[in-house]
Amino acid sequence: MQNFSYRNPTKIIFGEGQIAMLDAEVPRNARVLVTSGGGSIKSNGVLDQVKAALGQRTWFLFSGIEPNPTYETLMEAVAMARENNIDYLLAVGGGSVIDGTKFIAAAIKFDGEPWDILSKKAPVHDAMPFGSVLTLPATGSEMNNGSVVSYRAKGDKLFFTSEATYPLFSVLDPTTTYSLPPKQIANGVVDAFVPVIEQYLTYPADAKVQDRFAEGLLITLSEVGPQALAEPHNYAVRANLMWTATLALNGLIGAGVPQDWATHMLGHELTALHGLDHAQTLAILLPAVMSVRREQKRAKLLQYAERVWKLTEGSEEERITAAITATRSFFERMTVATRLRDYQITGDSIDKLIAKLEEHGMTALGEHGDITPQVSREVYQHAL
Ligand code: NZQ
Repeated sequence: MQNFSYRNPTKIIFGEGQIAMLDAEVPRNARVLVTSGGGSIKSNGVLDQVKAALGQRTWFLFSGIEPNPTYETLMEAVAMARENNIDYLLAVGGGSVIDGTKFIAAAIKFDGEPWDILSKKAPVHDAMPFGSVLTLPATGSEMNNGSVVSYRAKGDKLFFTSEATYPLFSVLDPTTTYSLPPKQIANGVVDAFVPVIEQYLTYPADAKVQDRFAEGLLITLSEVGPQALAEPHNYAVRANLMWTATLALNGLIGAGVPQDWATHMLGHELTALHGLDHAQTLAILLPAVMSVRREQKRAKLLQYAERVWKLTEGSEEERITAAITATRSFFERMTVATRLRDYQITGDSIDKLIAKLEEHGMTALGEHGDITPQVSREVYQHAL
């Protein structure tokens, strides 16, 4: 196991009816900016619960944070927060709203051009305090300090992390997910599955509990994912999905182990260039990364095949191939297509994707730092 330090300060408040707990978490004298997406929280009753819990506090609503939140929109929220002397943020929505709120929290306190936080990795030492009410199990943003923001005008999608951008708390009420369209549930399951793989499917590091924890999350997703599509109002299924997605990326399984993240980085360029959903990019690229990197990932692919998909018959090569096929089939069973051609994307895009990866310094990716632009090209080609 590698050396590590691990701290996660986010308090989780889990279960039906728990939005009422906002009253205990948000300071009484706070001036709150509630941040939200395109309107789901108004139609599904979540905003009404938030309003009731905030009671007499002074609060304002910023709506319109889009999926793959943009710098352009988030800077409007920064301006609104400044105009109204806001001192507390409350993100209510999916990963895009929470990620966007992390950027708003950092940008408000940032001395300089806030885009530098993403483009130049300018350090964020301070951020406005914020909490979240999660309505879409997928990204883990509710219990981590990462944020992914797009600059529409530049065609960039970049990430930042900071010790200052953990949510103080996150409310996870599985019943808020009942209104999710099937496509978002499907996306959410893929979006939880792939980060686990990024922290697990590398090379053996003798990290027994991290491995078994990761395998438990993957097996759980393979069980509850299809159930969540088939039984949208099954509380137990939604509860298991929600907590699994949070644990997928709260840092615990990644402590002390090598990590990959090439699928994510190649995927960000696909979203920036072609507007694909984040999860769609992951479903396309993960099977391709597994295939192109099967030698480097051989030992973990065999472990994954045996422990997650129970593949014990046949030669090593057959088991690895079967594990890659099982992964692709799982995504397709979740109704997320796994080839670039399914999204009308051809090989003509690959030069542009590689140029963007190079522009963003993504030239030594993966757990060995040896996914060069040439290897990335092979991955995109494999995904066609
Ligand atoms: O905007 P509204 O109206 O709220 O609708 C949203 C949006 O259209 C809808 N939705 C959310 N909760 C709902 C609901 N509709 C009905 N009922 C509900 N309860 O779902 C749509 C998608 O929402 P979005 O927040 O974009 O999805 P997701 O949670 O998958 O977030 C994706 C973003 O997170 C980033 C991605 O890159 C992408 O920008 N990621 C962040 C990570 C992190 N912070 O650690 C890691 C992830 O891998 C990912 O990169």
